[in-house]
Amino acid sequence: MSLWRGSSDITPRRKVPRRIQDAEDPVARTFEPRVSIRHRSRGSESVTRTTENTSEPVRVAVVGLGNAGQQNIAAVSKVSSAEVVAITEPDPVVAARTDLPVRPMAEVLADPNVQVVALCLPPGDRYEMATAAFRASKHVLVEKPPARCPAELSAMLAAAHRAERHAAVMFQHRFALPETLRIGASAHFADAMASLMVSRPRKASHYADGGWRSRPDKALGGVTAHLGVHYLDVACQLLGEPVQVTLLDRTDAAPGIDTQLCGHVAFDSGAQLTIAVTSRSPGRFEQLTVHGANAWIELNGGRLVGRIADEEVYQDARPALELRACVYTELALSVQNGVPPRVSSLDRSSGVTMILHGLLQHDATTVAP
Ligand SMILES: NC(=O)c1ccc[n+]([C@@H]2O[C@H](COP(=O)([O-])OP(=O)(O)OC[C@H]3O[C@@H](n4cnc5c(N)ncnc54)[C@H](O)[C@@H]3O)[C@@H](O)[C@H]2O)c1
Repeated sequence: MSLWRGSSDITPRRKVPRRIQDAEDPVARTFEPRVSIRHRSRGSESVTRTTENTSEPVRVAVVGLGNAGQQNIAAVSKVSSAEVVAITEPDPVVAARTDLPVRPMAEVLADPNVQVVALCLPPGDRYEMATAAFRASKHVLVEKPPARCPAELSAMLAAAHRAERHAAVMFQHRFALPETLRIGASAHFADAMASLMVSRPRKASHYADGGWRSRPDKALGGVTAHLGVHYLDVACQLLGEPVQVTLLDRTDAAPGIDTQLCGHVAFDSGAQLTIAVTSRSPGRFEQLTVHGANAWIELNGGRLVGRIADEEVYQDARPALELRACVYTELALSVQNGVPPRVSSLDRSSGVTMILHGLLQHDATTVAP
C-alpha cells in the first residue's frame, strides 16, 4: 500500500552559506574529543583551529519544564556560550521544581534580553508559539518531532525567514555522525540499502492514558514520532529527500498513536530504507545500517562504524547530554555570528517530517491495547 509519493509543499533547503561550510564545524572543537577518522588527513583540522569569541553568553528561555525542558537546561549548563535566563511552565507543581525565574510566555517574548526560545513542548503546542516567538524577533529551537506535518514545518520556516531569525531543532543525534557525514552525505549513499530498527520499551498506558501522548493532534504519533524519530532523521541526513513512503503495518494504542510500526521509504538518491520501530519489546535497541556501493555505516546505540570510500570511520557513542550541548553550542555561535546553524538547522527536517506524515496519517492496520 503506497501512501505518499513526492511532495511540493515543502520549502526547498536553503543553500548553506559558503563561509560556514569553509569554517568547518566549530562545535567539534569543544565536543569531539572521541572522534577518529582513520587514514584521513582532514580529520584533525577542526581540532587545531582556534576562534576568538568574546561575546556574552546567548540568553535562552526554556518553555515547558517536563523531561525535554530539564534536559535542555542541563545541556545549556554545559555550554559556556549560552545561559538559561527564564522558564515558562503553566503547571505550578512542575514550575516549583526550578530555581530559575518562571515567567509567562508573553513577558518572555516582550523581553529583549531573551534571544532564544527553546520550545520543549508536545508538537501540538509548538506551532503558535514558534510563530509568535519569531514575530517577537527571537531565535527558536524546537524539540523533536519538529512539526506535525510538512505544511506546518513550511509555515514555521517561512516565519523564521520573514523575521530573519534562526530556526533550529533538537535532533542531537545528527552530532553522532562524524563531520564528514553531517552535510551532503547522500552523495556517498546513492542506491544504498538501509535498515532502521529501534526498540524502546514503554508500557501500553504510556501511549493510552489520555494525556497529550494519546492525542494525535498534540503528539502527532507514538513510538515512531517520539523515539524512532532520531534515527529516522539521521537516515534522512544520510540518504537525501524521501520520494515515496509506504506503511506496511502499524499497531496503535490509541487512534494514530503507534506502539509498533513497519514501513519502507525510497529516497531521491535511489536509496531504500526499511523501518521497524517498537515499544512492545523489553529490549532497548537503536540501529541504523546503510550499505552503498562504495560506503557503508552502522550507527548502533550511538556508536558509529563504517567505511567511506577508502577511509574507515569510527566514532564512540557519546552521552545524550553532550550531543544536546552540541546543538546549543552551534546555535549560540549562530546567534553571535549571524550565520544559520548548519547541522541542527530546522530546514534539514523536511525529510523526517514527510516520512512521519506518510506513516502516521492513515488508519492503522492493527489496533491493540
Ligand atoms: N530531544 C530529546 O531527546 C527529547 C527528550 C524528551 C522529550 N523530547 C520531546 O519533547 C517534547 C515534550 O516531551 P516531554 O517528555 O518533555 O513532555 P512532558 O509532558 O514531560 O513536558 C511537557 C511540559 O510542557 C508544559 N507545557 C504544556 N503546555 C505549555 C505551554 N503552553 N507553555 C509552557 N509550558 C507548557 C507541560 O506543563 C509540561 O511540563 C516531545 O515532543 C518529546 O518528543 C525530546
